[in-house]
Amino acid sequence: MKLNEKFTVTIEDLTHEGEGVAKVDGFPLFIPNALPGDEMVVMVTRVRKNFGLASKQQLINPSPNRVNPLCELFNQCGGCQTMSLNYPTQLIFKEKRVSDSLKRIGKIDTVVKPVLGMKEPWHYRNKAQFPIGLSHHKLSIGFYRQGSHDIIDTRKCHIQHSIMENVVKILRDFLEKEHISIYNETTNTGLVRHLVTKVGFATGEVMVILVINGKHLPKSHLLVEALQQVNGLVSVVLNENTKRTNVIMGKENQVIFGKAYLTDRLHHLDFQISPHAFFQVNPAQTEVLYDKVLEMASLTGSETVMDLYCGIGTISLFLAQKARKVIGIESVEPAVEDARANAHLNHISNVEFMAGPAENWMPQLAQSGIQPEVIVVDPPRKGCDEVVLLAMIQMNPDRIVYVSCNPATLARDLRILEDGGYQTLEVQPVDLFPHTSHVETVVLMSRAEK
Ligand SMILES: C[S@@+](CC[C@H](N)C(=O)[O-])C[C@H]1O[C@@H](n2cnc3c(N)ncnc32)[C@H](O)[C@@H]1O
Repeated sequence: MKLNEKFTVTIEDLTHEGEGVAKVDGFPLFIPNALPGDEMVVMVTRVRKNFGLASKQQLINPSPNRVNPLCELFNQCGGCQTMSLNYPTQLIFKEKRVSDSLKRIGKIDTVVKPVLGMKEPWHYRNKAQFPIGLSHHKLSIGFYRQGSHDIIDTRKCHIQHSIMENVVKILRDFLEKEHISIYNETTNTGLVRHLVTKVGFATGEVMVILVINGKHLPKSHLLVEALQQVNGLVSVVLNENTKRTNVIMGKENQVIFGKAYLTDRLHHLDFQISPHAFFQVNPAQTEVLYDKVLEMASLTGSETVMDLYCGIGTISLFLAQKARKVIGIESVEPAVEDARANAHLNHISNVEFMAGPAENWMPQLAQSGIQPEVIVVDPPRKGCDEVVLLAMIQMNPDRIVYVSCNPATLARDLRILEDGGYQTLEVQPVDLFPHTSHVETVVLMSRAEK
């Protein structure tokens, strides 16, 4: 295959980044903005050893599953890669991705259940992170353009809670009117770099975090005054990030209005969430996910349960209501403080939270002889450190429930657990991220019969 060579192809699959996959004599080509079922002419733009990249030249026959994307920024913004594929077909491809990863990476050939999707897959996100910059000397608050750091000025987003639009408008007016300097990531100069908003879907509480390249925001009282128009505003925080980095938030927070956290509710439990703490971004589907975790844990009330990578203790507190004792482990200190406060808030006392990396705690705990009946893990995208998996195996629980947002690391880790004597019994994907290529999966494993 040569550069600039053209082929007529039919797209067969989607990559985890939402690119279409077509094969030419068995050689895979990845094509942006192409959907399964599309017949198109493509031109090869890069050739690697095992795959190539190509660009769409002409769409001959569109896939019957194509729909008009609701968003006018679709194809520009890097956020919703699959919005032009109808929702039921998005779910089918997510199921296939989980199944393919388990087979290819984990060598696990098992039934993957159909993805649990949303009835109304719009405006589901409770958290937005908008970069702020100057684009052609004009203030831009929005999302990064696909594959670049160019900011697309965004007035409307169909997957965010709509309250965000008002917050962005107020901030824009303030920055323009008061001539506040805007961050330039090339020179690491200028002040205002990111807006992060969080909203509690059940409580209506709103937190606004402004990330600045410094300690002081001129005329911040005017911003706070203007933000009071936002229904449910409970917290405004300045976050200091002076580093030349892609990491959005720095360590230091200054609360300039209201509380240092917002509160939301999942089912009947209340949770305080501080600026640095993780909280699932799709609360409606989080309830579906957590119900599945509880069902798989099948607790009777007598068990000791561990909840690794527990965040603010959400899963731990649901488990604690059905177990004898729950031990949660989490590396982000403020999240652990939230978790302890959340136990108190919900009058739950049979739970203990440990602060620090799971890979530090788990070998020690395994060595101490602790034997939980059930272990739940919900790691970040990179999955579990191998020492965590080995310590889990050493603890010899009856059941392991693995919650994952990355099918590739899930498959890798399940292989290690299977080699350690566990078998995969149930694989249930849940769609926490409609119109994107991300998928969440919850897996039940049990100790294999010897
Ligand atoms: C996907 S979130 C899950 C949180 C929680 N289970 C929930 O549903 O909200 C992963 C969590 O793991 C934490 N984390 C990341 N690396 C960690 C590590 N090495 N040890 C312990 N926790 C870690 C993150 O701070 C985050 O809270």
